[in-house]
Amino acid sequence: MKEIVLKKFEEIFGDTDGVSVYFAPGRVNMIGEHTDYNGGHVFPCALTIGTYAAARKREDDKLRLYSMNFDKLGVIESSIIDLKPEKEAEWTNYPKGVMWAFEKRGFKMPCGMDIVLNGNIPNGSGLSSSASLEVLTGFMLRDLFGFDVTNIDLALIGQYSENNFNGMNCGIMDQFASAMGKKDNAIFLNTADLSYEYAPLVLEGAKIVVTNSNVKHKLTDSSYNTRRNECETALEELKTVVDIKELGDLSEEEFEAHKSAIKDEVRIKRAKHAVYENQRTIKAVAALKKNDVKLFGELMNLSHISLRDDYQVSCEEVDVLVEEAWKIPGVIGSRITGAGFGGCTVSIVKDEAVEEFKEKLGAVYKERVGKQADFYVVEIGNGPSKL
Ligand code: GLA
Repeated sequence: MKEIVLKKFEEIFGDTDGVSVYFAPGRVNMIGEHTDYNGGHVFPCALTIGTYAAARKREDDKLRLYSMNFDKLGVIESSIIDLKPEKEAEWTNYPKGVMWAFEKRGFKMPCGMDIVLNGNIPNGSGLSSSASLEVLTGFMLRDLFGFDVTNIDLALIGQYSENNFNGMNCGIMDQFASAMGKKDNAIFLNTADLSYEYAPLVLEGAKIVVTNSNVKHKLTDSSYNTRRNECETALEELKTVVDIKELGDLSEEEFEAHKSAIKDEVRIKRAKHAVYENQRTIKAVAALKKNDVKLFGELMNLSHISLRDDYQVSCEEVDVLVEEAWKIPGVIGSRITGAGFGGCTVSIVKDEAVEEFKEKLGAVYKERVGKQADFYVVEIGNGPSKL
């Protein structure tokens, strides 16, 4: 990949003198979905796939960006002066948003850059191609301009830019997973205070398989922000009867005792998911620590049911993938992963069943949905790096 982006850089910008190459990963979330903006826990891990950039500073203020994933758009040119979101800027609104967010924190870029990008995460698949691009941009700016920020800052800056420059009100999970990834480990993150611990996710005799439904989601236009608002309203209603800061503060029992304060059936379901999913995540990590992968898998299945029925962020195609996966012997757990409304599922599959899983599920998906599913046996990788 390094050679590929360098070669493209030379082709587009003439030569590669003084160019550096960077990488930041995508992520898959094992459990803890739609809890990160509710003060709950998440359990994602960084992948070995992600986004690569070849970049160098310029002598003037120009920004010239080219993505091999959007090659038809060619070089998109703008400037570091007066950064603002623009429709014509297309995908460059993501890196520009991060530059803008650095400025908001008082880090001024002294000059422009030429950048070539290439990612191997399928777009809109729920594996955080945008967070990896944001963390990559932050990591690159830190290296090129010596900005004094930690990797957690890179995650926060990425999230801030996505919320305030790109209009997607995401939580911190994706950027955190990308910026703080650690090989063979998932990150047990408490989003209420950003405390975290790494938990080894080396599954004896099983693999993590990501299945892409190839139903693309478009988050800014989706119901993601609506879900967030529903949770906020439910929280305000609950606050009238119980002293909490976030939905993640409640146990299942406390929720059941106070839920009548929420004056709408749909909002009750949304809040129920947030509370139960947070507790499930805590239980799942405890199970994993005891090597109880079976229980971990069962909790993944329950997570899917809750996302399907209460949070309503699944879709027919993804339900087919998950429900058919559950029928295959050797599948320990399977659920939708990421924001939802399409995208990918994550499954834990016994080694000897992986081939059958791909074959059977691929065939039944084709038959029932009429689409092709793509399968990736994923490895858990590190956070961003300079190559
Ligand atoms: C998206 C958001 C995350 C998180 C997930 C759902 O990936 O970017 O912050 O809310 O959806 O768990």
